[in-house]
Amino acid sequence: MNYKQALKNPIFKIISKSAKELQLDAYVIGGFVRDYILQRGTAKDIDIVAIGSGIELAKQVAKNLPNNPKVQVFKTYGTAMLRFEDIEIEFVGARKESYNEDSRNPIVENGTLEDDQNRRDFTINALALDLSEDNYGNILDPFNGIQDLKEAIIRTPLNPDITYSDDPLRMMRAIRFATQLNFKIEEESLKSISKNKERIKIITNERIVVELNKILESSKPSIGFLLLEETGLLEYILPELTALKGIDEVEGQKHKDNFYHTLEVVDNISKNTDNLWLRWAALLHDIGKAPTKKFHKKIGWTFHGHEFKGSKMVYHLFKRLKMPLNDKMKFVQKMVYMSSRPIVLAEDMATDSAVRRLVFDAGDYVEDLMTLCEADITTKNPKKFKKYHNNFKIVRNKIIEVEERDHIRNFQPPVSGEIIMETFNLKPCREIGTIKEAIKEAILEGDIPNDFEAAYQLMLKEGEKLGLKVKK
Ligand code: CTP
Repeated sequence: MNYKQALKNPIFKIISKSAKELQLDAYVIGGFVRDYILQRGTAKDIDIVAIGSGIELAKQVAKNLPNNPKVQVFKTYGTAMLRFEDIEIEFVGARKESYNEDSRNPIVENGTLEDDQNRRDFTINALALDLSEDNYGNILDPFNGIQDLKEAIIRTPLNPDITYSDDPLRMMRAIRFATQLNFKIEEESLKSISKNKERIKIITNERIVVELNKILESSKPSIGFLLLEETGLLEYILPELTALKGIDEVEGQKHKDNFYHTLEVVDNISKNTDNLWLRWAALLHDIGKAPTKKFHKKIGWTFHGHEFKGSKMVYHLFKRLKMPLNDKMKFVQKMVYMSSRPIVLAEDMATDSAVRRLVFDAGDYVEDLMTLCEADITTKNPKKFKKYHNNFKIVRNKIIEVEERDHIRNFQPPVSGEIIMETFNLKPCREIGTIKEAIKEAILEGDIPNDFEAAYQLMLKEGEKLGLKVKK
């Protein structure tokens, strides 16, 4: 089979010519070939394997390009990278690798194309396209990767125990590809992941998070989280989630399985947003439920304060996984903390003041919060399902209405502290805060409009109550 069509980009002819000048063979390998066959759009990365020095080939290619781009050399890995238009091209010499037990870093020797294909993670990632003049576009598929692409199977080229043990990150990659492509992991491979799960410990958190993010960014993330759970990897990576598993029953009263519920919420939200951090919020919105779960004879199961507990746990989880402790994390915390607020509104008719309070507390995140809470509706009772969704529509409309009228978002007090001090001739003191709070409360309650005149009048009244004298 010939795949010249895949090599239409002029860069491939230049690589081919450069390889010929150096008298070595070169191949396109990995994700580019896989994604071409799957018609997954045009790739942003191309991996080139040279039978010889990848670094020399990269330098030769740069020489042959009109703009002589910079070649970035990674000596320790024996690889080099250059950019052509918006594509990153990585060059590596074909290698044979062997690993020892407790390190991801292999002992590397030069090898043939076959050695190089053997050391790759999956049959679908080991496909190579020949760039030599005579065999331009020929495909080299020693492990029937094309067949596996057709049958939607993730399979390792070698015995999976060797492939996964060599580089345990591949266990995560298998699950990530299964999620992104909606493929099945072949049975022996799946067993091997369970068997080798403990070796995930030698992988850095940063690399694990890259895979978790890719799973979360897929159209149906639950595929990945179910596989992580089934193989036992999840326990090592996100024990907060496995702790949500199971249904307890006391005196005939049960609560829902919050793990499967969470996965439904994540799948739901993925239909409505591509925001990775909002998807993280969906994944973590109930983690506080495991440590706060209690059974009361009269009221049944409760999870009091789980939103607060959960938001604290988000910080520890991000820290442990070496995820950014910045405003993305704060956003996730805020979503988790507020995740039960709108549903309370949706159960009944929401009052204007309740909506104003929601907008006040959620600020610019109010729409994201609504998206999260709509995804949280997983009831199997069609009547309730309809009612909640309808009520959320009403809440959304009220948010717009209240916004237009009252400008609560990013609330600025209509009467400033300076004006209060000036009016009553005060130095900084507690009374100023008391007056400001009374004005804010009156606006949120709808007792006064959010404008200067009304707030000023209320300030005078509150001042009088506090025994303050207006400056003459
Ligand atoms: N590879 C591997 N084992 C790894 C990582 C990568 O064998 N742990 C090989 C695979 O052949 C893979 C290639 O290196 O196709 C390139 O890796 P990478 O760029 O990470 O993945 P892609 O397959 O290109 O896919 P994606 O861009 O979706 O991550």
